[in-house]
Amino acid sequence: MSAGSAVSQRKKVGVLVSGRGSNLQALLDACADPTFPAEIALVISNVPGVLALERAQKAGVATAVIPHRDYPSREAFDAAMDLVLRAAGIDIVCLAGFMRLLSSEFVAGWQGAMLNIHPSLLPSFKGLHTHRQALEAGVKLHGCTIHLVTPDLDDGPILVQAAVPVQDDDDEDSLAARVLEQEHRAYPLALRLLAEGRVTVDGNRTLIRR
Ligand code: GRF
Repeated sequence: MSAGSAVSQRKKVGVLVSGRGSNLQALLDACADPTFPAEIALVISNVPGVLALERAQKAGVATAVIPHRDYPSREAFDAAMDLVLRAAGIDIVCLAGFMRLLSSEFVAGWQGAMLNIHPSLLPSFKGLHTHRQALEAGVKLHGCTIHLVTPDLDDGPILVQAAVPVQDDDDEDSLAARVLEQEHRAYPLALRLLAEGRVTVDGNRTLIRR
């Protein structure tokens, strides 16, 4: 196949969202290029009416709303998502601002095939309010991480990180905006690496074939 021609076997990606969906948008934009090795086939939101769903619909991508409150347990909710993802023939799951913890069964079922984006340079500043945590810690570099998902929160072998300087006059919002810009570049890159089968896991590390 010549460079620049369409990729015949694009990986089918399911994106899980809960809100604004700017990272989803970055993935949709990357996948709009027919030479990109993955396509977004399905977007699932646990929250109805969010902007991420509109973005998917605008891009002509199938959506599903699976409200977690409709299920008696985390496991039951995750099983419902799993069913929909499998039925759609999804190869890779991307978490993009998905605000639910996942059960170990769900995580095990997508081992090596599920990515998360976290707005800090992991392993620093896991959990919520990462920009506040960074400012409080006084770090001079902050950023984002895309990693394979393992059962522990914001943990797992790292594929891509991008760093930004913390400036003296930064507040949470200005720092978040600077990091977000990098998120939108880094997530498509990480998805490309995984979709092209260039990632091998060796303990906590990923080895990336260049
Ligand atoms: C991003 O900062 C992402 O890293 C974090 O939640 C935010 C979601 O933003 N997990 P968006 O929904 O992608 O705009």
